[in-house]
Amino acid sequence: MSIKTATLNGVATIEIARPEKKNALTLAMYRAMADAITAAAADPQVRALLITGQPGIFTSGNDIEDFMRQRPVDAAEAPSFAFMKALLACDKPVVAAVTGAAIGIGTTMLLHCDFVYVSDEARLAMPFTSLGLVPEFASSLVVPQLMGNVRAAEKILLGDPFSGAEAVECGIASAVLPAAEVVPHARRVAERFNALPPGAVQESKRLLRRARAQVALETIAVEGEVFARRLRSPEAQEAFSAFFQKRKPDFSKF
Ligand code: COA
Repeated sequence: MSIKTATLNGVATIEIARPEKKNALTLAMYRAMADAITAAAADPQVRALLITGQPGIFTSGNDIEDFMRQRPVDAAEAPSFAFMKALLACDKPVVAAVTGAAIGIGTTMLLHCDFVYVSDEARLAMPFTSLGLVPEFASSLVVPQLMGNVRAAEKILLGDPFSGAEAVECGIASAVLPAAEVVPHARRVAERFNALPPGAVQESKRLLRRARAQVALETIAVEGEVFARRLRSPEAQEAFSAFFQKRKPDFSKF
């Protein structure tokens, strides 16, 4: 199992642990994360959630082999949807400890966490277009809201990577910390919720998200349809093949 879960001192930790593939997320891993979030949300012992990766890597995003195998299923049935829906529905505070690269859904999921601590080595990226794909899980809505249209174009149309410091500056991350301090700090923040009344915290989180909740779900549905179609496109297939053949993709024929 490449997702490890543990509950300690009121904090449910979800650890992405597939370092040999740079923590790329498989269908089974999305399912495990969705189940872990749903269980933590229902567990009265849990006051906050912590999502983390491995030293040097948070996640390299969706497993590209799984992308290649994707059959024409309804996007809403994909395990990645179950994971993101559980994350969006979670009323308990979610803290992310980003210990290294956070690519694709690795960055997208941070847009839906409440506290995001990044290491000084972290690189974030949403390289959807270079994979023949489009933004997902409301990133086309939230990224321009956070950083404005012109910076969103750099990050989403060009897929330019950005540092933890830039993530803080544009409101995606809470703070940059030395690598060794990211997880302990994130855990301390999560544990602070043990001293706060859980009902007030959860109702406050719902209120903070209320204005965006419905439009985010609608955006996710629209993005999902386009994303599922793009996955089967010759452009995406060329990008995926190039990744595994360790060569530059050739988009000149499209
Ligand atoms: N899906 C499937 N396998 C992946 C992967 C992914 N998203 N990311 C990395 N891997 C695999 C590599 O194929 C390689 O496998 P191998 O050892 O069998 O050849 C292994 O993980 C190590 O990756 P490698 O690229 O050699 O590591 P690196 O340190 O040079 O680079 C990354 C790390 C994260 C920068 C690089 O792996 C990368 O760009 N990954 C793809 C990111 C991406 O486009 N994700 C999809 C976003 S929508």
